[in-house]
Amino acid sequence: MNRLFVAGGRPLKGKVRVSGAKNASLALLCAAAMSRDSVILENIPDISDINVMSEIMKEMGFKTKREASGALEICAPLKLNAQPPYHMVKQLRASNLLLGPLLARFGEAEVALPGGCNIGVRPMDLHFKGLSGLGAQVSMKHGTVSAKADKLVGNRIYLDFPSVGATENIMMAACLAEGQTILENVAKEPEIVDLANFLNCLGAKVRGAGTDIIKIEGVQELGGCLRYPVIPDRIEAGTFMVAAAATGGDVELENVIPHHMEPICAKLREAGVEIIEGEEALRVVAGGKLKPIDLKTLPYPGFPTDMQSQFMAMLCTIAGTSVIIENIFENRFQIADELKRMGANIKVEGRIAVIEGVNELHGTHVKATDLRAGAALVIAGFMAEGTTEISNVKYIDRGYHLLEEKMKTLGAQVWRKDSR
Ligand code: UD1
Repeated sequence: MNRLFVAGGRPLKGKVRVSGAKNASLALLCAAAMSRDSVILENIPDISDINVMSEIMKEMGFKTKREASGALEICAPLKLNAQPPYHMVKQLRASNLLLGPLLARFGEAEVALPGGCNIGVRPMDLHFKGLSGLGAQVSMKHGTVSAKADKLVGNRIYLDFPSVGATENIMMAACLAEGQTILENVAKEPEIVDLANFLNCLGAKVRGAGTDIIKIEGVQELGGCLRYPVIPDRIEAGTFMVAAAATGGDVELENVIPHHMEPICAKLREAGVEIIEGEEALRVVAGGKLKPIDLKTLPYPGFPTDMQSQFMAMLCTIAGTSVIIENIFENRFQIADELKRMGANIKVEGRIAVIEGVNELHGTHVKATDLRAGAALVIAGFMAEGTTEISNVKYIDRGYHLLEEKMKTLGAQVWRKDSR
Protein backbone atom coordinates (compact mmCIF):
# COMPACT_ATOMS: atom_id res chain seq x y z
CA MET A 1 0.00 0.00 0.00
CA ASN A 2 1.40 3.37 -1.02
CA ARG A 3 1.87 6.22 1.40
CA LEU A 4 2.62 9.81 0.56
CA PHE A 5 4.97 11.93 2.68
CA VAL A 6 4.70 15.69 2.60
CA ALA A 7 7.13 18.10 4.28
CA GLY A 8 5.61 21.40 5.32
CA GLY A 9 6.77 24.97 5.50
CA ARG A 10 7.64 25.88 1.89
CA PRO A 11 5.63 28.29 -0.24
CA LEU A 12 4.78 26.80 -3.66
CA LYS A 13 6.28 28.82 -6.49
CA GLY A 14 6.52 28.40 -10.25
CA LYS A 15 4.50 27.27 -13.24
CA VAL A 16 2.37 24.17 -13.67
CA ARG A 17 0.33 22.78 -16.55
CA VAL A 18 -3.19 21.55 -15.82
CA SER A 19 -4.22 18.15 -17.25
CA GLY A 20 -7.43 17.23 -19.08
CA ALA A 21 -10.56 17.09 -16.92
CA LYS A 22 -11.20 13.75 -15.23
CA ASN A 23 -14.98 14.09 -15.12
CA ALA A 24 -15.30 15.36 -18.69
CA SER A 25 -12.98 12.57 -19.90
CA LEU A 26 -15.10 9.87 -18.22
CA ALA A 27 -18.25 11.18 -19.92
CA LEU A 28 -16.51 11.51 -23.32
CA LEU A 29 -15.25 7.94 -23.12
CA CYS A 30 -18.81 6.74 -22.55
CA ALA A 31 -20.12 8.91 -25.39
CA ALA A 32 -17.46 7.47 -27.69
CA ALA A 33 -19.25 4.13 -27.15
CA MET A 34 -22.02 5.50 -29.39
CA SER A 35 -19.78 6.31 -32.36
CA ARG A 36 -19.72 4.02 -35.40
CA ASP A 37 -16.16 5.23 -36.12
CA SER A 38 -13.17 5.14 -33.87
CA VAL A 39 -12.53 8.37 -31.97
CA ILE A 40 -9.32 9.83 -30.56
CA LEU A 41 -9.84 11.83 -27.38
CA GLU A 42 -6.93 14.19 -26.72
CA ASN A 43 -5.50 15.25 -23.37
CA ILE A 44 -7.12 12.39 -21.43
CA PRO A 45 -5.39 12.23 -18.02
CA ASP A 46 -3.50 9.05 -17.18
CA ILE A 47 -5.23 8.43 -13.84
CA SER A 48 -6.70 5.29 -12.35
CA ASP A 49 -10.37 6.29 -12.85
CA ILE A 50 -9.78 6.62 -16.60
CA ASN A 51 -7.74 3.42 -16.74
CA VAL A 52 -10.48 1.48 -14.93
CA MET A 53 -13.14 2.90 -17.26
CA SER A 54 -11.12 1.92 -20.31
CA GLU A 55 -10.58 -1.60 -18.87
CA ILE A 56 -14.35 -1.90 -18.29
CA MET A 57 -14.96 -0.88 -21.89
CA LYS A 58 -12.39 -3.40 -23.13
CA GLU A 59 -14.26 -6.14 -21.25
CA MET A 60 -17.38 -5.10 -23.17
CA GLY A 61 -15.65 -5.48 -26.53
CA PHE A 62 -14.32 -1.96 -27.14
CA LYS A 63 -10.77 -1.45 -28.34
CA THR A 64 -8.84 1.29 -26.59
CA LYS A 65 -5.31 2.49 -27.28
CA ARG A 66 -3.17 5.16 -25.58
CA GLU A 67 -1.00 7.37 -27.76
CA ALA A 68 2.30 8.68 -26.39
CA SER A 69 0.80 12.20 -26.48
CA GLY A 70 -1.81 11.19 -23.89
CA ALA A 71 -4.60 10.82 -26.44
CA LEU A 72 -6.86 7.79 -26.09
CA GLU A 73 -8.38 6.02 -29.08
CA ILE A 74 -11.72 4.23 -28.65
CA CYS A 75 -13.23 1.91 -31.19
CA ALA A 76 -16.72 0.54 -30.50
CA PRO A 77 -17.62 -3.05 -31.47
CA LEU A 78 -20.58 -3.75 -33.77
CA LYS A 79 -22.09 -5.90 -31.10
CA LEU A 80 -21.68 -5.63 -27.38
CA ASN A 81 -20.19 -8.92 -26.26
CA ALA A 82 -19.55 -8.71 -22.56
CA GLN A 83 -20.98 -7.66 -19.27
CA PRO A 84 -18.23 -5.92 -17.31
CA PRO A 85 -17.10 -7.82 -14.22
CA TYR A 86 -18.49 -6.46 -10.96
CA HIS A 87 -15.07 -6.21 -9.29
CA MET A 88 -14.08 -3.63 -11.93
CA VAL A 89 -17.35 -1.72 -12.09
CA LYS A 90 -17.50 -1.34 -8.33
CA GLN A 91 -14.24 0.61 -8.39
CA LEU A 92 -15.80 3.36 -10.43
CA ARG A 93 -19.09 5.09 -9.72
CA ALA A 94 -18.96 6.84 -13.11
CA SER A 95 -19.39 3.48 -14.90
CA ASN A 96 -23.11 4.28 -14.54
CA LEU A 97 -22.54 6.74 -17.41
CA LEU A 98 -22.34 3.79 -19.78
CA LEU A 99 -26.06 3.05 -19.30
CA GLY A 100 -27.43 5.76 -21.60
CA PRO A 101 -24.94 5.30 -24.45
CA LEU A 102 -25.14 1.47 -24.50
CA LEU A 103 -28.93 1.55 -24.31
CA ALA A 104 -29.12 4.01 -27.20
CA ARG A 105 -26.60 2.24 -29.43
CA PHE A 106 -27.28 -1.44 -28.65
CA GLY A 107 -30.86 -1.37 -27.31
CA GLU A 108 -29.82 -2.76 -23.95
CA ALA A 109 -27.40 -2.15 -21.16
CA GLU A 110 -26.57 -3.89 -17.94
CA VAL A 111 -24.27 -2.24 -15.47
CA ALA A 112 -23.64 -3.57 -11.98
CA LEU A 113 -23.54 -0.70 -9.54
CA PRO A 114 -21.72 -0.35 -6.29
CA GLY A 115 -23.80 0.82 -3.33
CA GLY A 116 -23.26 4.10 -1.52
CA CYS A 117 -19.75 5.49 -1.54
CA ASN A 118 -17.64 7.41 0.94
CA ILE A 119 -19.07 10.84 0.21
CA GLY A 120 -22.77 9.93 0.19
CA VAL A 121 -25.54 7.55 -0.88
CA ARG A 122 -25.61 8.67 -4.53
CA PRO A 123 -28.97 7.33 -5.75
CA MET A 124 -29.78 6.97 -9.48
CA ASP A 125 -33.49 7.75 -9.48
CA LEU A 126 -33.05 10.72 -11.83
CA HIS A 127 -31.06 8.65 -14.34
CA PHE A 128 -33.84 6.04 -14.27
CA LYS A 129 -36.57 8.67 -14.57
CA GLY A 130 -34.93 10.13 -17.67
CA LEU A 131 -34.19 6.83 -19.41
CA SER A 132 -37.72 5.55 -18.63
CA GLY A 133 -39.05 8.83 -20.02
CA LEU A 134 -37.35 7.98 -23.31
CA GLY A 135 -39.18 4.65 -23.36
CA ALA A 136 -36.67 2.27 -21.75
CA GLN A 137 -37.62 -0.40 -19.24
CA VAL A 138 -35.25 0.13 -16.37
CA SER A 139 -34.95 -2.31 -13.52
CA MET A 140 -32.54 -2.99 -10.70
CA LYS A 141 -31.90 -6.48 -9.37
CA HIS A 142 -29.10 -7.77 -7.14
CA GLY A 143 -27.25 -4.49 -7.54
CA THR A 144 -27.34 -4.57 -11.34
CA VAL A 145 -29.21 -1.99 -13.39
CA SER A 146 -30.74 -3.24 -16.63
CA ALA A 147 -32.16 -0.94 -19.25
CA LYS A 148 -33.84 -2.18 -22.43
CA ALA A 149 -35.70 -0.54 -25.29
CA ASP A 150 -36.64 -1.59 -28.83
CA LYS A 151 -36.69 2.07 -29.65
CA LEU A 152 -36.06 5.27 -27.68
CA VAL A 153 -38.45 8.14 -28.31
CA GLY A 154 -37.79 11.79 -27.43
CA ASN A 155 -39.77 13.29 -24.57
CA ARG A 156 -39.93 16.25 -22.18
CA ILE A 157 -38.04 15.34 -18.99
CA TYR A 158 -37.71 17.45 -15.86
CA LEU A 159 -34.91 16.71 -13.40
CA ASP A 160 -35.88 17.33 -9.78
CA PHE A 161 -32.24 18.21 -9.08
CA PRO A 162 -29.63 19.28 -11.67
CA SER A 163 -27.61 16.07 -11.35
CA VAL A 164 -24.45 16.01 -13.47
CA GLY A 165 -24.53 12.26 -14.12
CA ALA A 166 -28.27 12.13 -14.86
CA THR A 167 -28.01 15.06 -17.29
CA GLU A 168 -25.12 13.32 -19.08
CA ASN A 169 -26.74 9.89 -19.24
CA ILE A 170 -30.08 11.16 -20.53
CA MET A 171 -28.48 13.62 -22.95
CA MET A 172 -26.38 10.86 -24.49
CA ALA A 173 -29.31 8.44 -24.82
CA ALA A 174 -31.55 11.16 -26.31
CA CYS A 175 -29.04 11.78 -29.14
CA LEU A 176 -30.12 8.49 -30.75
CA ALA A 177 -33.81 8.68 -29.75
CA GLU A 178 -36.50 9.35 -32.32
CA GLY A 179 -37.67 12.99 -32.35
CA GLN A 180 -37.06 15.79 -29.92
CA THR A 181 -36.10 15.58 -26.24
CA ILE A 182 -36.37 18.57 -23.95
CA LEU A 183 -34.42 18.24 -20.69
CA GLU A 184 -35.38 20.75 -18.04
CA ASN A 185 -33.54 21.81 -14.86
CA VAL A 186 -30.35 20.18 -16.07
CA ALA A 187 -26.81 20.54 -14.72
CA LYS A 188 -24.80 23.43 -16.23
CA GLU A 189 -21.27 22.29 -15.37
CA PRO A 190 -18.53 22.91 -17.98
CA GLU A 191 -18.23 19.12 -18.32
CA ILE A 192 -21.83 19.04 -19.62
CA VAL A 193 -20.99 21.64 -22.26
CA ASP A 194 -17.87 19.69 -23.25
CA LEU A 195 -19.90 16.50 -23.62
CA ALA A 196 -22.54 18.30 -25.74
CA ASN A 197 -19.78 19.74 -27.97
CA PHE A 198 -18.29 16.29 -28.43
CA LEU A 199 -21.69 14.75 -29.21
CA ASN A 200 -22.30 17.51 -31.77
CA CYS A 201 -18.89 16.80 -33.27
CA LEU A 202 -20.15 13.20 -33.68
CA GLY A 203 -23.18 14.52 -35.58
CA ALA A 204 -25.66 14.85 -32.70
CA LYS A 205 -28.01 17.83 -32.48
CA VAL A 206 -27.73 19.15 -28.94
CA ARG A 207 -28.56 22.77 -28.13
CA GLY A 208 -28.62 24.72 -24.88
CA ALA A 209 -25.89 22.91 -22.91
CA GLY A 210 -24.69 25.26 -20.17
CA THR A 211 -28.23 26.58 -19.60
CA ASP A 212 -31.16 25.10 -17.62
CA ILE A 213 -32.77 23.56 -20.71
CA ILE A 214 -31.14 21.25 -23.23
CA LYS A 215 -32.94 20.40 -26.48
CA ILE A 216 -31.88 17.38 -28.47
CA GLU A 217 -33.05 16.33 -31.94
CA GLY A 218 -32.44 12.61 -32.28
CA VAL A 219 -30.31 11.36 -35.20
CA GLN A 220 -29.95 7.87 -36.71
CA GLU A 221 -26.30 7.33 -35.88
CA LEU A 222 -23.20 9.06 -34.59
CA GLY A 223 -19.67 9.13 -35.99
CA GLY A 224 -17.15 11.05 -38.03
CA CYS A 225 -15.41 12.96 -35.25
CA LEU A 226 -11.80 11.88 -35.58
CA ARG A 227 -10.15 13.84 -32.77
CA TYR A 228 -11.56 15.82 -29.85
CA PRO A 229 -9.62 17.60 -27.07
CA VAL A 230 -11.09 17.45 -23.58
CA ILE A 231 -11.32 20.65 -21.49
CA PRO A 232 -8.77 21.33 -18.71
CA ASP A 233 -9.54 20.03 -15.24
CA ARG A 234 -11.00 22.91 -13.20
CA ILE A 235 -10.75 20.90 -9.97
CA GLU A 236 -7.09 20.03 -10.48
CA ALA A 237 -6.48 23.71 -11.30
CA GLY A 238 -8.41 24.75 -8.18
CA THR A 239 -6.38 22.33 -6.05
CA PHE A 240 -3.11 23.97 -7.20
CA MET A 241 -4.60 27.42 -6.61
CA VAL A 242 -5.54 26.57 -3.04
CA ALA A 243 -2.15 24.92 -2.44
CA ALA A 244 -0.48 28.14 -3.62
CA ALA A 245 -2.77 30.31 -1.50
CA ALA A 246 -2.43 28.16 1.63
CA THR A 247 1.37 28.22 1.52
CA GLY A 248 1.69 31.95 0.77
CA GLY A 249 3.00 31.02 -2.68
CA ASP A 250 3.03 32.41 -6.21
CA VAL A 251 1.92 29.90 -8.85
CA GLU A 252 1.02 30.29 -12.50
CA LEU A 253 -1.34 27.75 -14.03
CA GLU A 254 -1.22 26.98 -17.74
CA ASN A 255 -4.02 25.32 -19.69
CA VAL A 256 -7.00 26.64 -17.74
CA ILE A 257 -10.26 28.22 -18.87
CA PRO A 258 -10.52 31.18 -16.46
CA HIS A 259 -14.31 31.40 -16.92
CA HIS A 260 -14.69 27.85 -15.49
CA MET A 261 -12.70 28.92 -12.44
CA GLU A 262 -14.92 31.87 -11.42
CA PRO A 263 -16.58 30.33 -8.32
CA ILE A 264 -13.16 29.23 -7.03
CA CYS A 265 -11.45 32.54 -7.88
CA ALA A 266 -14.26 34.50 -6.22
CA LYS A 267 -13.80 32.69 -2.91
CA LEU A 268 -10.00 32.90 -3.01
CA ARG A 269 -10.23 36.65 -3.70
CA GLU A 270 -12.64 36.99 -0.79
CA ALA A 271 -9.99 35.36 1.39
CA GLY A 272 -7.48 37.99 0.27
CA VAL A 273 -5.62 36.07 -2.45
CA GLU A 274 -4.57 37.97 -5.57
CA ILE A 275 -5.50 36.28 -8.85
CA ILE A 276 -4.27 37.56 -12.18
CA GLU A 277 -6.14 36.30 -15.25
CA GLY A 278 -4.46 35.54 -18.55
CA GLU A 279 -5.93 34.14 -21.76
CA GLU A 280 -5.57 30.48 -20.83
CA ALA A 281 -3.65 31.04 -17.63
CA LEU A 282 -4.14 32.14 -14.04
CA ARG A 283 -1.57 33.38 -11.55
CA VAL A 284 -2.19 33.05 -7.83
CA VAL A 285 -0.22 35.36 -5.55
CA ALA A 286 -0.67 35.01 -1.80
CA GLY A 287 1.75 37.08 0.20
CA GLY A 288 -0.22 38.68 3.01
CA LYS A 289 -2.49 37.59 5.82
CA LEU A 290 -5.59 35.71 4.63
CA LYS A 291 -9.15 36.33 5.89
CA PRO A 292 -11.73 33.75 7.03
CA ILE A 293 -14.63 33.11 4.60
CA ASP A 294 -17.99 31.36 4.48
CA LEU A 295 -18.85 29.10 1.57
CA LYS A 296 -21.73 26.90 0.38
CA THR A 297 -21.39 24.14 -2.17
CA LEU A 298 -23.96 24.31 -4.97
CA PRO A 299 -24.43 23.09 -8.53
CA TYR A 300 -22.40 25.09 -11.09
CA PRO A 301 -22.00 28.06 -11.32
CA GLY A 302 -22.11 27.76 -7.53
CA PHE A 303 -19.04 26.71 -5.54
CA PRO A 304 -18.07 23.10 -6.43
CA THR A 305 -18.37 20.36 -3.81
CA ASP A 306 -15.18 18.88 -5.30
CA MET A 307 -13.22 21.90 -3.97
CA GLN A 308 -14.77 21.97 -0.50
CA SER A 309 -12.16 19.81 1.27
CA GLN A 310 -9.19 21.72 -0.17
CA PHE A 311 -10.70 25.00 1.05
CA MET A 312 -11.35 23.47 4.47
CA ALA A 313 -7.65 22.61 4.75
CA MET A 314 -6.64 26.17 3.78
CA LEU A 315 -9.08 27.76 6.25
CA CYS A 316 -7.64 25.80 9.22
CA THR A 317 -4.86 28.33 9.84
CA ILE A 318 -6.66 31.54 8.88
CA ALA A 319 -7.34 33.54 12.05
CA GLY A 320 -11.07 33.89 12.78
CA THR A 321 -14.15 31.77 12.06
CA SER A 322 -15.00 30.25 8.67
CA VAL A 323 -18.20 28.33 7.91
CA ILE A 324 -18.70 25.71 5.19
CA ILE A 325 -22.14 24.40 4.20
CA GLU A 326 -22.11 21.22 2.10
CA ASN A 327 -25.30 21.01 0.05
CA ILE A 328 -24.42 18.30 -2.49
CA PHE A 329 -23.06 15.22 -0.71
CA GLU A 330 -24.16 14.46 2.84
CA ASN A 331 -20.98 12.73 3.98
CA ARG A 332 -18.24 14.99 2.73
CA PHE A 333 -16.82 16.22 6.02
CA GLN A 334 -14.82 13.10 6.94
CA ILE A 335 -11.67 15.09 6.21
CA ALA A 336 -12.41 17.20 9.30
CA ASP A 337 -11.36 14.35 11.63
CA GLU A 338 -8.07 13.98 9.78
CA LEU A 339 -7.40 17.73 9.89
CA LYS A 340 -8.20 17.70 13.61
CA ARG A 341 -5.47 15.09 14.05
CA MET A 342 -3.13 17.72 12.62
CA GLY A 343 -4.29 20.27 15.20
CA ALA A 344 -7.21 21.95 13.39
CA ASN A 345 -10.20 23.27 15.33
CA ILE A 346 -13.29 22.18 13.36
CA LYS A 347 -16.83 21.48 14.56
CA VAL A 348 -19.14 19.55 12.26
CA GLU A 349 -22.90 19.51 12.71
CA GLY A 350 -24.73 17.75 9.88
CA ARG A 351 -24.02 19.66 6.70
CA ILE A 352 -22.29 22.57 8.46
CA ALA A 353 -18.63 22.81 9.45
CA VAL A 354 -17.30 25.66 11.59
CA ILE A 355 -13.56 26.22 11.40
CA GLU A 356 -11.74 28.31 13.99
CA GLY A 357 -8.32 29.25 12.66
CA VAL A 358 -5.37 27.88 14.66
CA ASN A 359 -1.78 29.16 14.56
CA GLU A 360 -0.30 26.03 13.09
CA LEU A 361 -1.00 22.50 11.84
CA HIS A 362 1.37 19.68 12.78
CA GLY A 363 2.47 16.83 10.57
CA THR A 364 1.20 13.41 11.63
CA HIS A 365 -0.20 10.20 10.12
CA VAL A 366 -3.55 10.81 8.36
CA LYS A 367 -5.60 8.89 5.82
CA ALA A 368 -7.33 10.00 2.65
CA THR A 369 -11.04 9.20 2.94
CA ASP A 370 -11.86 10.10 -0.68
CA LEU A 371 -10.19 11.67 -3.69
CA ARG A 372 -10.59 15.35 -2.83
CA ALA A 373 -10.01 14.76 0.89
CA GLY A 374 -6.70 13.19 -0.14
CA ALA A 375 -5.74 16.29 -2.13
CA ALA A 376 -6.77 18.45 0.83
CA LEU A 377 -4.46 16.48 3.13
CA VAL A 378 -1.56 17.08 0.75
CA ILE A 379 -2.31 20.82 1.02
CA ALA A 380 -2.58 20.53 4.82
CA GLY A 381 0.80 18.75 4.77
CA PHE A 382 2.38 21.69 2.89
CA MET A 383 0.95 24.06 5.53
CA ALA A 384 2.00 21.99 8.53
CA GLU A 385 5.13 22.04 10.63
CA GLY A 386 7.00 18.74 10.23
CA THR A 387 6.16 15.81 7.97
CA THR A 388 2.70 14.46 7.18
CA GLU A 389 2.24 10.83 6.22
CA ILE A 390 -0.87 10.14 4.13
CA SER A 391 -2.22 6.63 3.66
CA ASN A 392 -4.97 5.47 1.23
CA VAL A 393 -3.13 7.22 -1.61
CA LYS A 394 -5.15 5.14 -4.08
CA TYR A 395 -7.90 7.75 -3.72
CA ILE A 396 -5.57 10.54 -4.81
CA ASP A 397 -4.34 8.46 -7.76
CA ARG A 398 -7.94 8.17 -8.99
CA GLY A 399 -8.03 11.78 -10.03
CA TYR A 400 -4.67 13.59 -10.12
CA HIS A 401 -2.26 13.07 -13.01
CA LEU A 402 1.38 13.28 -11.82
CA LEU A 403 0.43 15.12 -8.64
CA GLU A 404 3.77 14.64 -6.87
CA GLU A 405 5.82 15.50 -9.95
CA LYS A 406 3.82 18.67 -10.55
CA MET A 407 4.01 19.71 -6.90
CA LYS A 408 7.77 19.09 -6.91
CA THR A 409 8.24 21.47 -9.84
CA LEU A 410 6.65 24.09 -7.57
CA GLY A 411 9.26 23.43 -4.91
CA ALA A 412 7.24 21.07 -2.72
CA GLN A 413 8.88 18.26 -0.82
CA VAL A 414 6.68 15.25 -1.40
CA TRP A 415 7.60 11.60 -1.84
CA ARG A 416 5.97 8.19 -1.94
CA LYS A 417 6.78 4.90 -0.25
CA ASP A 418 5.42 1.52 -1.10
CA SER A 419 4.98 -0.42 2.13
CA ARG A 420 4.27 -3.82 0.57
C1 UD1 B 1 -20.45 14.35 -10.56
C2 UD1 B 1 -18.95 14.34 -10.50
C3 UD1 B 1 -18.48 14.56 -9.06
C4 UD1 B 1 -19.09 15.83 -8.50
C5 UD1 B 1 -20.60 15.82 -8.67
C6 UD1 B 1 -21.26 17.12 -8.23
C7 UD1 B 1 -18.37 12.84 -12.29
C8 UD1 B 1 -17.80 11.53 -12.70
N1 UD1 B 1 -18.48 13.05 -10.98
O1 UD1 B 1 -20.91 13.27 -9.80
O2 UD1 B 1 -17.05 14.66 -9.07
O3 UD1 B 1 -18.78 15.93 -7.13
O4 UD1 B 1 -20.94 15.59 -10.05
O5 UD1 B 1 -20.73 18.19 -8.90
O6 UD1 B 1 -18.67 13.67 -13.12
N2 UD1 B 1 -28.71 12.61 -7.06
C9 UD1 B 1 -29.96 12.08 -6.84
N3 UD1 B 1 -30.48 11.22 -7.77
C10 UD1 B 1 -29.81 10.90 -8.90
C11 UD1 B 1 -28.53 11.47 -9.12
C12 UD1 B 1 -28.02 12.33 -8.17
O7 UD1 B 1 -30.58 12.34 -5.82
O8 UD1 B 1 -30.32 10.13 -9.71
C13 UD1 B 1 -28.13 13.52 -6.04
C14 UD1 B 1 -26.85 12.98 -5.43
O9 UD1 B 1 -27.12 12.11 -4.36
C15 UD1 B 1 -26.16 14.24 -4.98
C16 UD1 B 1 -26.57 15.25 -6.03
O10 UD1 B 1 -27.71 14.71 -6.68
O11 UD1 B 1 -26.67 14.64 -3.73
C17 UD1 B 1 -25.49 15.57 -7.05
O12 UD1 B 1 -25.10 14.39 -7.68
P1 UD1 B 1 -24.65 14.38 -9.21
O13 UD1 B 1 -24.64 15.77 -9.74
O14 UD1 B 1 -25.43 13.35 -9.92
O15 UD1 B 1 -23.16 13.88 -9.07
P2 UD1 B 1 -22.43 12.78 -9.94
O16 UD1 B 1 -22.84 12.89 -11.36
O17 UD1 B 1 -22.53 11.46 -9.28
